[in-house]
Amino acid sequence: MAKLEIKKDIYWVGAVDWNVRTFHGHTYSTKRGTTYNAYLIIDDKITLVDTVLGSFSAELIEKIRQIVPPEKIDYIIANHVEKDHSEALPEIIKLCPKAKVVGTAKCKEGLAKHYYGNWDFQTVKTGDKLSLGKRELVFIEAPMIHWPDSMFSYCPQEELLLPNDAFGQHYATSERFDDETDSCALMDEAAKYYANILWPLGAVILRKLEEIQKMNIPIKMIAPSHGIIWRKDPQKIINAYLGWTKNTTLAKAVVVYETMWGSTEKMAARIAQGIIDAGIQVKLYDIAQSDRTEVINQMLEAKGFVIGSSTHDNNMLTSIAGFLDFLRGLSPKNRIASAFGSYGWAGGAVQKIEKTLEETGIKVAAPGLSVKYVPDEREIGRCYEFGKEFAGKIKEA
Ligand code: FEO
Repeated sequence: MAKLEIKKDIYWVGAVDWNVRTFHGHTYSTKRGTTYNAYLIIDDKITLVDTVLGSFSAELIEKIRQIVPPEKIDYIIANHVEKDHSEALPEIIKLCPKAKVVGTAKCKEGLAKHYYGNWDFQTVKTGDKLSLGKRELVFIEAPMIHWPDSMFSYCPQEELLLPNDAFGQHYATSERFDDETDSCALMDEAAKYYANILWPLGAVILRKLEEIQKMNIPIKMIAPSHGIIWRKDPQKIINAYLGWTKNTTLAKAVVVYETMWGSTEKMAARIAQGIIDAGIQVKLYDIAQSDRTEVINQMLEAKGFVIGSSTHDNNMLTSIAGFLDFLRGLSPKNRIASAFGSYGWAGGAVQKIEKTLEETGIKVAAPGLSVKYVPDEREIGRCYEFGKEFAGKIKEA
């Protein structure tokens, strides 16, 4: 295995998880796998920045051994407690029991609760510095990006930012750098990561980005804890984050529905056609057949959402209800939406969808559209007009 140097005497010692297909329980689908990135800095003080998921401990240790005996490690920087970056820590510490673990106060508390490790721990705050010899690390607390313990580490001599989860992607590749990999897939995975994990934290992230801009620190490389390292154009992902945190939208629509016997599906297709014919791009998903992580990714930049469900027990169907519940947790801002669906005798789904949208903070742009049993020719025409009218609302918004 070749050693992978990302900067002179700074090595990637992480692991590629090609086969993981779900993350955070089953809330996130990782169709392209992921990586757990850890970095080893060789200086007067040997420093490991983050570790990996426990099942990849041996791989991490082998990579470290290729560069330096693990017992020589002086510091282990713990930027984040979550297991995908810390679970190998107990195994590593056994090999370098004199190493000092460095992290925030919340990190200390979190690691103790996860692993009961009675380790030498140095608590740091924003602005604290750790001298490694020729280099130093400066720490920037980043609470709620995306856990209370989260922290960024910055090396001024290398102009290198190590921000853990921020700017990462669940993207398993043989390449390690942005100039080596498919840039469309890279940005797609970066957006998906933001949309599904960081979207509700946009205001916190924006404040942190502004704080870092005010610190006026040059950043030539961003090495996150998942996926690809940004060395060609780190500003590209910073700019993308600035747009996402401000809930900047494009004139696009996402139609998401669930159908019982096909009537709501017919409505969805005609509504989507009406939106398209009015000149607005559309994505259309039957949520019961779709990957929710992908749907949320498409919603990140779309101005308008059209949500449909057949009525069952005066309510919407269960897959779309679960989807809207997840969407509510993401707190999208600056969006408009409309609801539609079929019913048999007493309706209810459209009203429930509208109520949920309003509770989520999404403006219901027009009264919902309900159809009894199966849409007839006139009602199919009405669906098409409903779509065109919604496209008009997107253009006005
Ligand atoms: Fe990649 Fe929050 O862990």
